Amino acid sequence: MMHKFPKINFIGNKEKIAKWITDYFPKDAESIFDAFSGGSSVSYQSKMKGLKVISNDILKINYLLSKALIENNSTKLSYEDVEILFSGVPKEGFMFNNYSEVFFFPKECAALDLYRENIEKLDSEYKKALALVLMRRAMIRKMPYSRFNINWDKIVQLRDEKYSYEKYKRKRAYHNQSFKSLFIENVSEYNRAVFDNNKENLSLNDDIFNILDNVKADVIYLDPPYTGTMNDYFGFYGMLDEYIVGKKLQPFENNFIDKKTSIALFDKLFSKLNNFKYWYLSYNNSSYPTKEQLVKLLGNYSNNVQLVEKPHIYKITGKENKKVNMEYLFIVENTNLTSKTELAYERAEL
Ligand SMILES: C[S@@+](CC[C@H](N)C(=O)[O-])C[C@H]1O[C@@H](n2cnc3c(N)ncnc32)[C@H](O)[C@@H]1O
Repeated sequence: MMHKFPKINFIGNKEKIAKWITDYFPKDAESIFDAFSGGSSVSYQSKMKGLKVISNDILKINYLLSKALIENNSTKLSYEDVEILFSGVPKEGFMFNNYSEVFFFPKECAALDLYRENIEKLDSEYKKALALVLMRRAMIRKMPYSRFNINWDKIVQLRDEKYSYEKYKRKRAYHNQSFKSLFIENVSEYNRAVFDNNKENLSLNDDIFNILDNVKADVIYLDPPYTGTMNDYFGFYGMLDEYIVGKKLQPFENNFIDKKTSIALFDKLFSKLNNFKYWYLSYNNSSYPTKEQLVKLLGNYSNNVQLVEKPHIYKITGKENKKVNMEYLFIVENTNLTSKTELAYERAEL
């Protein structure tokens, strides 16, 4: 049976080309490590392909997306669970105190604080993960531009349906729908996306540089933030991690944002991939390092480097204004594969 990836809305996701990417995986591959899993689109496609999937992301919310949809093989949210989530009265907690009139109205923040407390009443880690990623979906839906680094004045302006209609001919009424109704709208779709591929899949939540020595898989898929494009993932989604843990957080390091350090960072990354026989790296033509620089860098590690390209056409505005973005997939066979030792990784807790 074919399963459908649910609506996640993750900036820089590979949803549209996930199949194209995984179709290049070698026939003998049985496992994949999705090292920068983001919205989990490549992990999900790999799970559908029957591979054992290990995924990782430095952001907790992305780890939870994977925990709910990749590692979780069977747990779903029931009607009773949803009732637990939305019972009680709003309270003034972390969101109310820190994000009122920053990203949401005070009443909305107080509702989020209540729901966060209620999520802890669910009886399994997978249910909690599902509830948190559905809450994420509702929060993102209410947020103009779907990311949490927009000024409050702009948010208020774009959430004004009259203004939005006059200016953009779209009311965007979903920005003003309640969290509860947005959550409920999406529960069945997320529940249906949960399936068992008869593998013990695993989701991890760490800086990639901390765990490369401890994970083993046939394929490693690398889709890091692209230097020079929209790539401030802590800026986009860090607030969701703060909602999960109930405290302010510092941006993470190693985020591939800085052009000056990006070549050195890639080199450091490639130097640590000895546990993997095949490396797959996604990149595109509007980012840095360039394709030539990446080919050269990878050539230091293998004499079997391939590059496949796929034009990705997207409209900016109007009919003529089309921009062709070239998607790159570097495929590297690790000719220096040394380590054959079995490595185990403990299940990460929420
Ligand atoms: C381009 S996105 C991945 C998109 C993903 N392939 C998808 O289809 O949704 C890059 C991801 O890398 C994560 N990231 C950034 N620096 C990281 C690091 N040092 N270790 C692990 N993950 C990191 C970000 O949180 C972000 O989710």
